Amino acid sequence: MQTNSARLPARRSGVTVAPDAREAARLVATRIVAFMKEKPDAVLGLATGATMEPVYAELVAAYRAGNVSFASASTFNLDEYVGLASEHPAAYRSTMNRLLFDHVDIDKTRTHVPDGHASDPSAAAARYEAAIAATGPIDLQLLGIGRNGHIGFNEPGSPLDSRTRVVELHSSTLDANRAFFPDGRMPHFAITMGIATILQARRILLLATGPAKRDAVVRAHAGGFDIDCPASALSDHANVEWIVDAEAAAGLSG
Ligand code: F6R
Repeated sequence: MQTNSARLPARRSGVTVAPDAREAARLVATRIVAFMKEKPDAVLGLATGATMEPVYAELVAAYRAGNVSFASASTFNLDEYVGLASEHPAAYRSTMNRLLFDHVDIDKTRTHVPDGHASDPSAAAARYEAAIAATGPIDLQLLGIGRNGHIGFNEPGSPLDSRTRVVELHSSTLDANRAFFPDGRMPHFAITMGIATILQARRILLLATGPAKRDAVVRAHAGGFDIDCPASALSDHANVEWIVDAEAAAGLSG
């Protein structure tokens, strides 16, 4: 039931607006916990990035409270930097271990992150796509959004039919993530699931928080697919929910 309380999320079609980033992350975690109860052997698609950190903290807390188990789940992360050893602190494999996998009951052999350190990254990308096809479809895909509208590392210009592949990161993505590479040696390439790969997920939850995401959120909702805003591809998906905080939602009308 909808009430007038400013603390309750407002729901529009496909977009849920939470009062702040913390509540938005809580909502996403609540959706994931509920989903895991319905389907304990779910295949989850996971994202990294600062926006996701409170979501994983909530999931770890839910696990410790006995409210969720990942014992039968499988996971596929969206992307990984090319050229980083998996133990590098900025590698998405080590990030996922640190934020989630090391703290819950998941079987790590069923957690997948593209192999950015492979001698042939394109072959590793093809193997990753094949592994998703063999294990999937992904039941629930978690997404963040870049300031330039990217999803995964599908930068502007990524086609709708793109699959897991090696991509070059745009300058705005490099700028947004430079702080994770204090030695200045930041990879310029990554392996990412493609847009078509992402759209194959049965259900998608996109989390966007903060004013830096406002423009990308507006552009993604302008209607139809705009190749300059990869997140606009989600308009083609039948089961996607955007969970945004008030700051990220501020440019949306109605
Ligand atoms: C990373 C990923 C990216 C991030 C996006 C937002 O796995 O998929 O699309 O979700 O770059 O990153 P933050 O949350 O750091 O703003």
